[in-house]
Amino acid sequence: MAKDEAQAARRVEELRGQIKEHDRRYYQEAAPTISDREYDRLYKELLDLEAKFPELVTPDSPTQRVGGKPLQAFDQVRHRVPMLSLDNTYSEEEVANFYKRITKLLPNVKIPVVIEPKVDGVAVSVMYENGKLKYAATRGDGLVGDDITQNIKTIKSVPHQLPGAAPRIFEVRGEAYLDKKGFEKLNKERGAAGLPLFANPRNAAAGSLKHLDPSVAARRPLGMVFYGTGAVEGTALDLHSKIFTLFKKLGLPTHEDWWLADSVDKILNAIRDLDEVRRDFAYETDGAVIKVDALAQREKLGFTAKSPRWAIAYKYAAEQVETKLLDIKVQVGRTGILTPVAVLEPVLVSGSTVSRATLHNEDEIKRKDIRIGDTVVIEKAGEVIPAVIEVVKSKRPRGAKPFDFFKHIHGKCPVCGGEVRRDPEFVAWRCENLLCPAQTTRRVEFFAARGALDIESVGGIVADKLVERGLVRDPLDLFELKVDQLAKLNLGTDEAPRVFGEKNATKAVQAIDRARTLALSRWLYALAIPDVGKTTATDLARFHETIEDVANSKLLRDVTAYHELRADKEAAKQIADRLIETGFAEPSKSKADKNRGIVTQVGPVVAQSVLDFFDSAAGKKTLQRIKQLRIKPATEKISAKKAAELPLAGKTFVLTGALPSMTREEASAKIQALGGHVSGGVSKKTDYVLAGSEAGGKLDKAKELGVKVIDEAQFRNLW
Ligand code: IVH
Repeated sequence: MAKDEAQAARRVEELRGQIKEHDRRYYQEAAPTISDREYDRLYKELLDLEAKFPELVTPDSPTQRVGGKPLQAFDQVRHRVPMLSLDNTYSEEEVANFYKRITKLLPNVKIPVVIEPKVDGVAVSVMYENGKLKYAATRGDGLVGDDITQNIKTIKSVPHQLPGAAPRIFEVRGEAYLDKKGFEKLNKERGAAGLPLFANPRNAAAGSLKHLDPSVAARRPLGMVFYGTGAVEGTALDLHSKIFTLFKKLGLPTHEDWWLADSVDKILNAIRDLDEVRRDFAYETDGAVIKVDALAQREKLGFTAKSPRWAIAYKYAAEQVETKLLDIKVQVGRTGILTPVAVLEPVLVSGSTVSRATLHNEDEIKRKDIRIGDTVVIEKAGEVIPAVIEVVKSKRPRGAKPFDFFKHIHGKCPVCGGEVRRDPEFVAWRCENLLCPAQTTRRVEFFAARGALDIESVGGIVADKLVERGLVRDPLDLFELKVDQLAKLNLGTDEAPRVFGEKNATKAVQAIDRARTLALSRWLYALAIPDVGKTTATDLARFHETIEDVANSKLLRDVTAYHELRADKEAAKQIADRLIETGFAEPSKSKADKNRGIVTQVGPVVAQSVLDFFDSAAGKKTLQRIKQLRIKPATEKISAKKAAELPLAGKTFVLTGALPSMTREEASAKIQALGGHVSGGVSKKTDYVLAGSEAGGKLDKAKELGVKVIDEAQFRNLW
């Protein structure tokens, strides 16, 4: 691996970790800690790196998903028409480019576009059949969402029955929101009850809609704005601008303000006009959506992998104000990362009072030369946690000293007093103490998360409190919890206690008990072994019977030995043959590989990392406790002979687009179960690109490299 690629690989991993963590906070806890804009920056950096180094793309990269993951507790609904998202931009120039682009794609015709508010809520799809509300769903991953019918039915403005002769199938899409006033009131009540506050109206709306108990949604002042359709039968629409009147006629709430334009200037004017009025809307808006009006023109323009070519979202710049930075506090994140937070003189921005802002990390503070006592410009775009943009140097008080992070925290973790270290490769300081309560919580959450051991009742606040009250110091402690201990657990505060309760506790203990025999791959993933993601965990589980087998793996030792001994051809060949025989490796197909090397299921770095983990004191203790706790993960091992005989053995697949009858996860699982390998980026090593509808750049890449492209039917013929 070239040096810059190695560097990129590290950054990509770091970005993915951060993005996934922010996704989790956003979608599962409805409590984000960074602004959308900041999130978009991270996401864009990842996209750019992946575009530059396609080899680094993996199927589980956040860039390969359309939206958030559906929660397991709801029934799932497969969207008849995928719910895509829009390309976002913050620049007028890009809006102009968008219009120029479509004018080039459809030359010599007028292309009227509609400009309408971008509602900052939660995307929802509501299906009416013969006028009757059949079901409602969230976007989920764009293909499958959560069935939130009961919650949507509690929204007063959403009709359960459409009047008159409604179309046979009429799926309408829009945004559910909590109005601005309702949001303020709700947060006030929550504050008084000692409950955590919602970050913004959108998160409050998401939290309400994803509540399993519809009576909660019913008590929240939710509203709905419909702005599009999904599956439609029994009526023909030709212009988007007609849906506003049609929706009104059917009693469906929709935009009151929208504009038609057919030139760049007119579009930009409409965007500015909207900015003038949007603050008076009952709901939050964060931008304008520009959509081609004629459905026939939309069809010609088509889609990229994730979004339509016929629409773009323009986001308004966040409001900026000046205030004083009074102090810098350091918080310990759940991965042990120390995050500096600005304590500000309270100031009103975008309608709410702000007294904190994130400073990200030491380098950011240095780069912006932020000092305590400075006057700073902060920015906020509807979120509660704003960012410090810059220092007003002319207002710097005399004697303000450059900020020294290490000195400021007295060289210790502010939570546990443990040692801190700054890894030269990372920008952040980290608390080194694995037993630091802040970190333990994070590990427990990861352990119990979906994809790992899936112990839903131990997420978020429960994990927090279990650690805070000293009941759990290590994720495996969960297996020793008793119902009565858990039932008494106070999830609230001392003043406003809220106990977990007997019923929840019994359920949680049962769920924990069930985890004892979950598949080995999940256990390997849950243990958070460095460098072991889901794919590696699955690969390891296919070749090992138990966790102990992985810990003492001859295969892994062979992999590291092979790479160390490559100079010694004879010795290397012996090991290579042995690995090939087990199915753990196959001869390399790459012509560049003159030594006729091998490609192993798991690379040498990961192999070493796994061995190191089980060799460490913590790893050994983990293994011993797993035994004591009678944890026996179900084996997924397949015999070498069988592995080689599997229909897709040795084949590498890349997935793109939406398949007609299976999700990407299902297709990936199938490929792996049949002995194949799934990779994220198309390269010469790819055997097949499995493409569905709306496949994007990967198809072009496949054509360029001459990689075989197949559809779902052809895929099914392979087995
Ligand atoms: S049209 C094919 N119109 O913003 C995409 N979306 O990333 C159809 N949104 O997923 C979306 N207001 O949740 C559209 N007037 C509007 C919107 C809007 C808000 C949301 C929607 C979408 C996201 C774009």
